[in-house]
Amino acid sequence: MTQPRILITGAAGQLGRVLTEALRLKYGADSVLATDINSAIEDLGLFEYLDILNTERLQSLIEKYQITEIYHLAAILSANGERNPSFTWNINLNGLLGVLKLAVKNKIDKLFFPSTIAVFGNTTPQINTPQDVPLLPETVYGMSKTSGELWCNYFHKKHGLDIRSIRYPGVIGWQSIPEGGTTDYAVEIYHAALKQKHYECFLEADTRLPMIYMPDVINGTINLMAAPKESIKLRYGYNLSGMSFTPKEIAASIQKHIPDFTIEYKPDFRQAIAASWSESIDDSKARNDWNWSPQYNLDTMTKDMLSKLSSKN
Ligand code: SER
Repeated sequence: MTQPRILITGAAGQLGRVLTEALRLKYGADSVLATDINSAIEDLGLFEYLDILNTERLQSLIEKYQITEIYHLAAILSANGERNPSFTWNINLNGLLGVLKLAVKNKIDKLFFPSTIAVFGNTTPQINTPQDVPLLPETVYGMSKTSGELWCNYFHKKHGLDIRSIRYPGVIGWQSIPEGGTTDYAVEIYHAALKQKHYECFLEADTRLPMIYMPDVINGTINLMAAPKESIKLRYGYNLSGMSFTPKEIAASIQKHIPDFTIEYKPDFRQAIAASWSESIDDSKARNDWNWSPQYNLDTMTKDMLSKLSSKN
């Protein structure tokens, strides 16, 4: 098997940084080109500046580095997206369309597109949400990812593009603080617990959401991309489940390690976004098709997060 040559968009983001590192470990540092609009990042190794709407530059990078696989992570998340809907639609949807067209033009072997639980909405069954359900997302981020999934499916059917996608739950990792998402509270809370022993939560105490710990996200993504082509039955986002919990439950999990940690609830506009999403996810298709199986639950994640963050600071 020949070594893939990978390009990652949005490589400076919460997931991008960790995925870039993991792919470099697997395929070698020179095989993975990190790109982002955030060029202030200096520790990204092989890096090129890329505004995702600049398809001419993307084309020249694909040629220059003889790219064979793309992980298209660049996007604006749910909460930030509501601050500028047209801009978000442009980046998220037109950004994807540019990548899809160039993937076909350059005969890219494989493309990864991250989708999200934000594709779900108030018409979706919220508990153990099945794979194929009515999608009526409430946010422009969710709208762009829902349409993005349809475009991916279309490009696979129409052009035979080998595209693979996951509907990520809220991603929790110690490596960086995410920007502009509704599930970000579940990362911020660990930082606050260690620094101030107190957290002011922007969601209500009992808002249950699907979440996943970074090592599981990385394994899942890499395993999906490495799976044999014929086992990939869905060319839109696979439902994926790690764990589900509420702010009250994550606070209790932290209190097992930091007994004097306290939390107060001051819900803002993100509460309505969270309330429109699922509480838990049925990911049986991912389990059956490409052997998805998460390793972490809330308490094992809490233990690892607190220990990694303590040794980092
Ligand atoms: N974590 C994302 C967000 O909160 C959901 O995909 O926007």
